[in-house]
Amino acid sequence: MGKHICILGGDGYLGWPSAMRFSALGYDVTVVDNYLRRELCAQYGLDFLYPVPRLKQRVALWEAVSGRRIHLAELDLADPENMRALFNPTGYERLCDAPWPGAPEAVLHYAEQPSAPFSQRDYRCTDLTLVNNLRVTSNLLCAVRDLSPRSHIVHIGTMGEYGTPNIDIEEGWLDIAHKGRHDRFLFPRQGASVYHTTKIMDTDLMWFFVRAWKLRVTDLMQGPVYGLETEESRATPELRPYFNYDDQFGTVINRFIVQAVAGHPLTVYGKGGQTRGYINITDTLQCVVAAVQHPAQAGELRIFNQITETFSVRELARRVREVGRKRGLKVAIEHVENPRTEAEEHYYNPTYQALRELGVVPHPLDNATLDSMFDIVQGYAARIHPEIIFHPLQQRQPREQD
Ligand SMILES: NC(=O)c1ccc[n+]([C@@H]2O[C@H](COP(=O)([O-])OP(=O)(O)OC[C@H]3O[C@@H](n4cnc5c(N)ncnc54)[C@H](O)[C@@H]3O)[C@@H](O)[C@H]2O)c1
Repeated sequence: MGKHICILGGDGYLGWPSAMRFSALGYDVTVVDNYLRRELCAQYGLDFLYPVPRLKQRVALWEAVSGRRIHLAELDLADPENMRALFNPTGYERLCDAPWPGAPEAVLHYAEQPSAPFSQRDYRCTDLTLVNNLRVTSNLLCAVRDLSPRSHIVHIGTMGEYGTPNIDIEEGWLDIAHKGRHDRFLFPRQGASVYHTTKIMDTDLMWFFVRAWKLRVTDLMQGPVYGLETEESRATPELRPYFNYDDQFGTVINRFIVQAVAGHPLTVYGKGGQTRGYINITDTLQCVVAAVQHPAQAGELRIFNQITETFSVRELARRVREVGRKRGLKVAIEHVENPRTEAEEHYYNPTYQALRELGVVPHPLDNATLDSMFDIVQGYAARIHPEIIFHPLQQRQPREQD
């Protein structure tokens, strides 16, 4: 196998920066996407903060600034024949209009509907999330089993799979002593949404395929990601990942900064004691590179917790308010009724050592990082639509039905 990596969901917030990073590292990169995320955002009027070119243009821009070519296939991976075509030379050459680079050393699987609130907005969103996420994962597992069994699957799971148990969270596995006997099981999972439940089912499916067919799989349990700049995107703003600030697809730190810039109070759900593990997008890239460069063994489901540090939502709001005020903005915090079913005060103590042992150097959230995010967001202040910051979908039907 050559240095070929296939990135499923390569148009996404994490997929595109990963594609540029692996390309910069000298990998032959293939990105695949069907633009599901863009289509959902367009359908529900959830505009990105700034326009982001589609993949064809971004691939060309990247080639212009780096001299490296990323191959592209625009297709729906929920269709098993599409997925299988990617792993066979003739199918690949037809889809990507490029010579077969050889079986992928790794497949990075980001291609899912990633929003918890969207996944349970109504029965159609639940159906879409379940069908899409599980089909893509199962299609990938079958294709790798049948056509490329040595390829290492790196899936992005979520810390949300664990929920907020009243015991320390281990990295994927728990040793249990029961009636004098011992065994090792997947750490108990209790997702707080349909989306999180699909990620739990992904893990279960992967574990079954690993046990039955000795596939090699890494599942990265990631916390909410923040940031909108990576080393590669500094070349031109058009290479930045897209950025949502609505309450469906926006992640919390990104949203707070937009709220501060727009003069909207920072919306803390309930008491704001919900504690989670967070990670800067640049650290996400370090983690996926480390996982790919230190692959799981055949027959191993390896699970790492991919976070840099933990914060309560209340603490995050205060951090953003402090930096916003230093910049002369009037920033208020408002506690609003919590639209989610979740504990607002709870124990939370996850372990997250394994990726550091592979060489990842964490970058904790500091005021300089928040300041640089403010710099970018303030540049697009005129494009912020305050009406989509909070609760847009509860009041709004898809555009085609307006
Ligand atoms: N961003 C975060 O904070 C975060 C945190 C934890 C876990 N994750 C996980 O990481 C992964 C990537 O997240 P993201 O924020 O980049 O999401 P994203 O929505 O920006 O990216 C996912 C991409 O996959 C594509 N896709 C979805 N279904 C597809 C299909 N059937 N065929 C082809 N392409 C398809 C989408 O169009 C999108 O471009 C997701 O699986 C998500 O669950 C993200």
